Amino acid sequence: MSQDSLNVAQESRGEFEAVTRPDFAKIRAQFPILQQTENGQPLVYLDSGATSQKPLAVIEALDTYYRQQNANVHRGVYGLSERATELYEGSRETVRQFINAESTREIVFVRGTTEAINLVAHSWARSNMQAGDEIIVTEMEHHSNIVPWQLLRDQLGIHLRVLKINPAGEICLNDLKNMVSEKTKLLAITHMSNALGSINPVKEMTEIAHSVGAKVLVDGAQATPHMAVDVQDIDCDFYALSGHKMYGPTGIGVLYAKEALLEAMPPYQGGGDMIYSVTFDKTEYNVLPYKFEAGTPHIAGAIGLAAAVKFLQSIGLNHIAAYEAELLAYATDRLKQIKGLRMIGEAQHKGGVLSFIIEGVHPHDMATLMDQDGVAVRASHHCAMPVMQYYNVPATVRASLGVYNNRDDIDRLVASIEEAKEMLI
Ligand code: ALA
Repeated sequence: MSQDSLNVAQESRGEFEAVTRPDFAKIRAQFPILQQTENGQPLVYLDSGATSQKPLAVIEALDTYYRQQNANVHRGVYGLSERATELYEGSRETVRQFINAESTREIVFVRGTTEAINLVAHSWARSNMQAGDEIIVTEMEHHSNIVPWQLLRDQLGIHLRVLKINPAGEICLNDLKNMVSEKTKLLAITHMSNALGSINPVKEMTEIAHSVGAKVLVDGAQATPHMAVDVQDIDCDFYALSGHKMYGPTGIGVLYAKEALLEAMPPYQGGGDMIYSVTFDKTEYNVLPYKFEAGTPHIAGAIGLAAAVKFLQSIGLNHIAAYEAELLAYATDRLKQIKGLRMIGEAQHKGGVLSFIIEGVHPHDMATLMDQDGVAVRASHHCAMPVMQYYNVPATVRASLGVYNNRDDIDRLVASIEEAKEMLI
């Protein structure tokens, strides 16, 4: 019996869910780094918000590319170059499907989310905004979705307005409704906060911004490893993501933008591949998306990113979301039993991020001691200093979940916190 007919038979018997639920222990086994020890202890990696670990599928895609497929793209007429080009462009199609963009012309490969946002600031915003216009960001943004707009503010005389959060770490749609006006030209928001885990209602926020004619940029760096994203359903104008947060390589990311916007935007960087013809008098630019991809791109990165997307799709984003939600609930419950622990960020709609402080303990001391137990967590302002200011803390300890984490990791996290607490208080 084929796998398909087996599934149909099982579905008709009501067994489909149980049988098709992925085996997360097997998924964890695909991450070689998790088999090593750290300070003599099996590694418990709880810093996927900073960067995710890489599965064999991604490591092997990179290895095969450099061993057997490496050549420059769009440039050679020889077979090796044509095959590298096919792989690179095939990766663009894989990403298009992953976020459900309408066309591969809307998928621009960049270094990561930070570069994607800076591209929009330099290209779209500079040619569409003037003094007095407003950009709205939320109070929970990462620095990469604040600083580019501040630079622009100082150069163009525009205003940066901040949509406040409540103590749980949520924004209020009514506040946004009251804030937007014909002056609003851009709403720049995170899909999922790296410091709090809050998941924003980006579709509803987009609708509000569009009602006054503003464009919407969504920072999807933290969201894409954890949930299905459909840019057409959100209807955002720009969506940014980073390969390394979603089990792919570092140094590769994507800017999605609606085709009509990209068509009208001036290039961001000049160089090879982004041109159609050059004379000393005049340059004609290449078609989309190449107009925005100057220079030799990160070919291996794009291929590795596509392997990461296929890895995520082979599990199923809905299965991942459900698994991580269950683990988050378990971890939240266990952490809250620790005396003196204050959870930072308790949004109702929240992804796998546990940010906390322990009364009387500096987060850096806590994380340093936890490292001795082989537990890797981040202690920092998480590149979201305004969030720390809001909660009046210098930093937090942050445990952020990935598809490879399990209840044992959470138990080790809790034991390590208790032990560190004993030593520090
Ligand atoms: N933005 C990354 C984090 O949240 C580096 O840790």
